[in-house]
Amino acid sequence: KRSYSITLLPGDGIGPEVVSVAKDVLLLAGSLHGIKLDFQEKLLGGAALDATGVPLPDDTLSVAKQSDAVLLGAIGGYKWDKNEKHLKPETGLLQLREGLQVFANLRPAKVFPQLVDASTLKREVAEGVDLMVVRELTGGIYFGKPRGFGTNEHGDEIGFNTEIYAAHEVDRIARVAFNIARKRGGKLCSVDKANVLEASMFWRKRVLALAEEYSDVELSHMYVDNASMQLIRYPKQFDTIVTNNIFGDILSDEASMITGSIGMLPSASLGDSGPGLFEPIHGSAPDIAGQDKANPFATVLSAAMLLRYGLGEEKVADRIESAVLETLNKGFRTADIYSAGTKLVGCKQLGEEILKSVESHVPAA
Ligand code: NAD
Ligand code: IPM
Ligand code: MN
Repeated sequence: KRSYSITLLPGDGIGPEVVSVAKDVLLLAGSLHGIKLDFQEKLLGGAALDATGVPLPDDTLSVAKQSDAVLLGAIGGYKWDKNEKHLKPETGLLQLREGLQVFANLRPAKVFPQLVDASTLKREVAEGVDLMVVRELTGGIYFGKPRGFGTNEHGDEIGFNTEIYAAHEVDRIARVAFNIARKRGGKLCSVDKANVLEASMFWRKRVLALAEEYSDVELSHMYVDNASMQLIRYPKQFDTIVTNNIFGDILSDEASMITGSIGMLPSASLGDSGPGLFEPIHGSAPDIAGQDKANPFATVLSAAMLLRYGLGEEKVADRIESAVLETLNKGFRTADIYSAGTKLVGCKQLGEEILKSVESHVPAA
């Protein structure tokens, strides 16, 4: 019997609500395929701050490192927003990504046919969009030094950060992206700000140099301001996008809206070795937390990515993904993806409907 240990990090806000659904889905789908999943729930973010005084307890990181994969809900909330940098929930998440060395963050944005009407874009623009944002996750301005607060030569107070990329960091994320593009539509668009930023000029030079090894992939370069416009103008032009940490953060939230809601987008964060980290791209949504309104699809789809990319359990991943489609076919929607003629349900009920679809396994057409 195949057996895996999964670290669960529910986190804050809607995190526990969506992780609870994804856990049940994993358990059921796993058991139907003869897989044993052993869950270890640990603290991260605000929940960890309240209980232990730090946003990433040592125990959480060491258990996560020893497990086969990590499933995360979301972290953050008003309560901790004024905390000092090292005592912010977000710092715990960044420490976790760094600690696990998961430099490659895959954020697929796919418009399900059932949700075209939930998109804020016109049908003909949104329909058929299927793109992948490959976001560099452990470098760039999020981690660059020097950073901090201080005083400038005029005696004015300042806050500052550094956008910095080393050759090996660009090369490894570019390789991941080229390989993904090769398996997808064969097109890679590297997004940067090479008309202004040295870090981007360097990024573009390294990506271009690697292109020789991937002559079967059609490489293009685009400035990030144009890319954010093109994503809304004609998103179908994109297949695979590779970009730095901060541009990837922003562009993936933008791309999510093409699909109908940020509550639909999963992600996988992978390194060269060790467990992957799987999380929805959205945050803790404090505005709807505790109201059973959260859309759990992004986390359920992250669980499918966990099975596919983290454990190599493709069949179980397929089963969960078909169950998501089946649940959409049956018309069940949370408020964020509701449109006329569909059935409005809460997070819990949607979870139960997904479980029914996992169980019956009507393969989606
Ligand atoms: P957010 O993604 O939490 O919410 C943005 C908007 O989208 C809100 O209106 C929210 O209600 C809605 N939304 C998000 N997820 C949803 C879902 N599954 N179903 C339905 N609606 C959903 O972003 P924010 O408001 O900018 O940030 C809130 C907190 O979350 C902050 O503390 C932020 O730092 C944190 N955050 C954490 C993560 C993470 O854990 N990976 C990601 C982004 C933001
Ligand atoms: C995300 C979030 C995080 C990020 C924050 C909460 C640190 O926005 O996962 O997209 O910026 O990476
Ligand atoms: Mn984000």
